[in-house]
Amino acid sequence: MSDKSVIPPSPSQQDYEKSEANPPEDIFAREDPFALFEHWLEDAKKKEPNDPNAVALATADADGAPDVRMVLLKGFDARGFVFYTNTDSIKGLQLGANPNAAMCFHWKSLRRQVRVRGPISQVSAEEADAYFNSRARDSRIGAWASKQSHTLESRFALEKSVAKYAAKFNIGEIPRPENWTGFRLEPHRIEFWRDRAFRLHDRMVFERPQANESWSVSRLYP
Ligand SMILES: Cc1cc2nc3c(=O)[nH]c(=O)nc-3n(C[C@H](O)[C@H](O)[C@H](O)COP(=O)(O)O)c2cc1C
Repeated sequence: MSDKSVIPPSPSQQDYEKSEANPPEDIFAREDPFALFEHWLEDAKKKEPNDPNAVALATADADGAPDVRMVLLKGFDARGFVFYTNTDSIKGLQLGANPNAAMCFHWKSLRRQVRVRGPISQVSAEEADAYFNSRARDSRIGAWASKQSHTLESRFALEKSVAKYAAKFNIGEIPRPENWTGFRLEPHRIEFWRDRAFRLHDRMVFERPQANESWSVSRLYP
């Protein structure tokens, strides 16, 4: 298979520079990176065909070997970026051993990327309960039924597990499993990137040594 069959042709760079997808320089005109992120996420919600909140989450194990997978961003504010998962999953165990992570958003339709790095911690039980209780009943049952990242003997075994918990929680509330919670990445570095013609992309980076310190802003070569 030639490259041409898998990579669709891009619009010419000159057309792209003039297009609506390439807004003027004030795209970066926000002093607070959270306000800028919110603005970009709102743009993504309008443009992306699905899951504008999908983000690659990188973790490392106790030996420092990296790993990465997609998760859904379920909240963010000045404290950081929140996703939910199973603490006994591979990522959960890695975060237990090495509580640092990175995230990378890529909004293809906007040709923009945001990278975030920093220490990570579990959200409070109250916060996790509130989000868990907002989920569809079947998703709450699924959280009980799935031993995320463990070997599954067959699809049937998963369906049996779902049926078992559906029967167990037949009536009444479904409590949050103890091993299902949220993690908050506290950003110490947030980089905003947008595509420009001839690979002369824009990069704006916000950095701070600690969460209670102010951000320094710089521009990077592409
Ligand atoms: C778009 C997308 C969103 C996902 N969102 C989540 C999520 O929010 N939480 C989660 O645990 N897994 C999510 N997954 C599944 C993970 O990518 C992964 O398969 C799973 O969490 C197990 O990862 P681990 O073995 O590294 O722990 C998502 C997958 C995709 C493709």
